[in-house]
Amino acid sequence: MSSQEFDIAVLSGDGVGPEIMNEAINVLHTISEKFGHSFHFHEGLVGGIAIDTQGTALSDDTLNMCRQSDAVLFGAVGGPRWDDPQAKVHPEDGLLALRKGLDLFANLRPVKVLPMLSGSSSIKPEIIAGVDLLVVRELTGGIYFGQPKKQWQSLQGRQAVDTLAYSEMEIRRILKAGFELAHARRKNLVSVDKANVLQTSRLWRQIAIEMAADYPDVILQHMLVDTCAMRLIRHPAEFDVLVTENMFGDIITDEASMLAGSMGMLPSASLAGVPLGRTFGLYEPIHGSAPDIAGKNVANPIAIILSVAMMLRYSFSLEIEAQATENSVFGVLAEGYRTDDIMSHNKTRLGTKEMGQAIVQGIKI
Ligand code: IPM
Ligand code: MG
Repeated sequence: MSSQEFDIAVLSGDGVGPEIMNEAINVLHTISEKFGHSFHFHEGLVGGIAIDTQGTALSDDTLNMCRQSDAVLFGAVGGPRWDDPQAKVHPEDGLLALRKGLDLFANLRPVKVLPMLSGSSSIKPEIIAGVDLLVVRELTGGIYFGQPKKQWQSLQGRQAVDTLAYSEMEIRRILKAGFELAHARRKNLVSVDKANVLQTSRLWRQIAIEMAADYPDVILQHMLVDTCAMRLIRHPAEFDVLVTENMFGDIITDEASMLAGSMGMLPSASLAGVPLGRTFGLYEPIHGSAPDIAGKNVANPIAIILSVAMMLRYSFSLEIEAQATENSVFGVLAEGYRTDDIMSHNKTRLGTKEMGQAIVQGIKI
């Protein structure tokens, strides 16, 4: 095993961000001690705290610092203090600027239902048994970024427009990520679109059909997004990899996350390339800044710790270290330790720090 060095940009953000980030960093310290790598941490401000101190949700310096790193670890942004819709800047702008500025077009959101947690979902255990799916969401295009995007006053009253646009290049690269990930998993790819209504979806579907010839072992299926929303609740275990455009992906990943019970469990990766070998990326929990529980040592650090595992896997190609981290999380849960969000009777309740420590102790070479 060769020892390696990595630079990691650390953006803790707001709310529970800093608390869960502490636990993520402790995990990385342990990985570096046990496996002999060096991680160099570079802290930057993002979100509400950056608005308060720097007047912008993401400064150019912070963006450049991220560009010079091997990966970005992100906590969470937002909170009621910055919620005013009339405000010029919002904490979320920092996240969108990072995605666009770092070209993080491929957002990977895995949802796995662990048997020991199937009781904490609001869906019946027999429906969610065996769920192990991965949503690959396009993250830098579509209606989030298309121009024109504005509000104006017309003679008929106020008007607004957002633009849904995709180029062939943007569609190809995210579909390629979907095909490659499906190829490496159970070889099942569902391309989610709205081809009965949208031109962007028709182009998407055509390109998917063309690309399928390069992946003869992957079974490609097309599914309309409304049907997909229904099937995710009805037959979630049938899915392997789903690939979709930005806004559909935003909506169905929140839906899919509820299969697993708590958002506090789910990691994500946002990559600047197709995951074939080392790829620059940003790693963040799916959950938000949860201001109601911030500073109380109750937030679940598992989502960010599993995001660290994804960082080890996709940006550093440290697969064994990634698995050691994931196995520790599963082991701690199997022993009956729970944070508040996934607590059930007969289990042992742990705070953020204590859960982090238990996971650190469970990391084995
Ligand atoms: C997400 C979030 C963001 C999005 C918000 C915070 C801009 O909902 O990461 O899914 O819509 O992409
Ligand atoms: Mg969302």
